[in-house]
Amino acid sequence: MSGAVTFDGAPPPGTINLGIGQPSADLLPVDLVRQASQSFFDHAQPLELNYGVPQGDERFLASLAAFLTEGYGAEVAADELFVTGGSSQGLDLASLVFARPGDTIFVEEPSYFLAFQIFRDHGLNIVGIPVDDDGLCDDVIQRELKSHKPAFLYTIPSYHNPGGQCTSETRRRRIVELATQHDFLIVADEVYQLLHYYDMPPPAYGTMTASGRVVSLGSFSKILAPGMRLGWIQTSTDLRTRLMAGGFINSGGSINHISSHIVRQTIDNGSLTSHIENLRRVYRGRLEAMDAALHEHFSGIANWTRPDGGYFFWVQFDDSVDTAPLRDKARALETGFQGGATFSTKDKLHNCLRLCFAHYNEADIREGIARMRPLFD
Ligand SMILES: Cc1ncc(COP(=O)(O)O)c(C=O)c1O
Repeated sequence: MSGAVTFDGAPPPGTINLGIGQPSADLLPVDLVRQASQSFFDHAQPLELNYGVPQGDERFLASLAAFLTEGYGAEVAADELFVTGGSSQGLDLASLVFARPGDTIFVEEPSYFLAFQIFRDHGLNIVGIPVDDDGLCDDVIQRELKSHKPAFLYTIPSYHNPGGQCTSETRRRRIVELATQHDFLIVADEVYQLLHYYDMPPPAYGTMTASGRVVSLGSFSKILAPGMRLGWIQTSTDLRTRLMAGGFINSGGSINHISSHIVRQTIDNGSLTSHIENLRRVYRGRLEAMDAALHEHFSGIANWTRPDGGYFFWVQFDDSVDTAPLRDKARALETGFQGGATFSTKDKLHNCLRLCFAHYNEADIREGIARMRPLFD
């Protein structure tokens, strides 16, 4: 079926569902991936189709280290990197290796809702820690440590999903100190770190692996294509050794070995960097279109802070508003959003909603928000 779009959450034709947290089709670079695949297969050696070494192909890890060194503006070494099947798989592996069923973990309130199921799969108890404009509240972590001993803290430090904000550098460093003093790990989901549209975000937790407390998750889903199912973990050598010791890796070797050969070409020939520059330009335009449309239609009835990167706006209404039942009504108006409570660890945040500016062009974003306005009359 040529041109068929099949993905989780595809809306009916004509609907502009700003709840979808995925890139638009025009930003999925088929030519770039075709050329990279071609140049890999033109010279492929038989052993490159065999199992890969547990941590991932060494040439890929060297290219990735150079790419991250440039992107983070700080030295990243190949021997701190481990190939994953994306951030979700990295999170699943971290939950398996660094926690036991019944353990407590700290998770931001709100947080990426699909991570909750991964934690539940591993029998982990979630304790929510609030975020504010400066990101994760380190003072509340400190307070909660009096009654809990978490195996790890799960955080989305840059361009939060759904909140959009960045945790400040001061707080990041303080949280690493707390993790060291209280012996827990920081599982930092840094999938949006390179999607900055104005100034650079604070340093990635990936640059703080020397603490021995950091497990930083990265992914090509947001900067190249989710279908590659390729990402990485950046961590200290000791923690990397523990990640590699699992039965799944022992049996199957490097995760998504062939994808890593293809993505290596995109790093080495510079096409990934040009693609990310284009994403930054396009997403910045969409972000500004969404901000302007919100000002036009939602001033005085909702609050939001314009994010500086990532995919999302988090919009807050009066406490009397419950956004969940409005989703059906939104569908009837051929628009859509994600309700706030979906992202809550405690079934709260009913008065909030999340909008994504990655999946539609600027005109559709303006139209989708205009259609939403009557829901709040
Ligand atoms: C915070 C966060 N983590 C993980 C993912 C999924 O990443 P991946 O495709 O690398 O598994 C997403 C995608 O929406 C996300 O927003």
